[in-house]
Amino acid sequence: MARRMLVAGNWKMHGVGSDLGEITAISMAAETENGVDVAICVPFTLIERAVAAAPGFAIGAQDVHPAANGAHTGDISAAMLAEVGAKLVIVGHSERRQAHHEGNAETAAKADAALAGGLDVVVCCGETLEVREAGEAVETVCDQIIASLPGSVDPSRMALAYEPIWAIGTGKVARPSDVAEMHAAIRARIAKEHGPEIAAQMRILYGGSVKGENAAELFAMEDVDGALVGGASLTADQFVPIINAAKN
Ligand code: PGA
Repeated sequence: MARRMLVAGNWKMHGVGSDLGEITAISMAAETENGVDVAICVPFTLIERAVAAAPGFAIGAQDVHPAANGAHTGDISAAMLAEVGAKLVIVGHSERRQAHHEGNAETAAKADAALAGGLDVVVCCGETLEVREAGEAVETVCDQIIASLPGSVDPSRMALAYEPIWAIGTGKVARPSDVAEMHAAIRARIAKEHGPEIAAQMRILYGGSVKGENAAELFAMEDVDGALVGGASLTADQFVPIINAAKN
């Protein structure tokens, strides 16, 4: 069974009410792309309004707490996200791992909580420049992703995102040969740990300075099943060409 492409936007800490028109425009463009799944993960404050601005379109969040509720000042639960209409959540983004010291076990716990709360998950992994230059990227990333997976690995409810940290927001995209090598290695490792059937169905997205101009080359690779897009997901003008590239 062929994997459907998934193009997910990550608005990070961008977006207020006046930006909702971009979500509406993106959702309208996405509607005509039957073969591609499209989603946008917005700040918490925009979720409910984004759902209203783009009925039927997948709106997600960028973080979730592992617990169902409790004394966790400033955090948010899967049930809270689901209640306002979120369909998915990103966990383990390198900006969470670095700025908030989130590790693999916490990422896995967040993924568990999200799935239990009815949200799909995008589990992120990626290496630093030092690790890449030391020649340890493939092993490091494969170990990281396996340790970050939820207890129940269901490819219909999740996707993985390989995002080399040095390529995020820098305009630098990993070399096609490095992306191909990493995605194939991740899939092989999933097959080893969770079986070939799950590995064959698992969508592995690339992230890191994906743009309309470089998306087609990335999407042409056998093991690249879409993209997690930061900066270029903020406007329909920049995001729709990436969706179109996934269709072709
Ligand atoms: P970028 O971000 O597309 O702006 O590089 C990607 C990401 O962090 O998900």
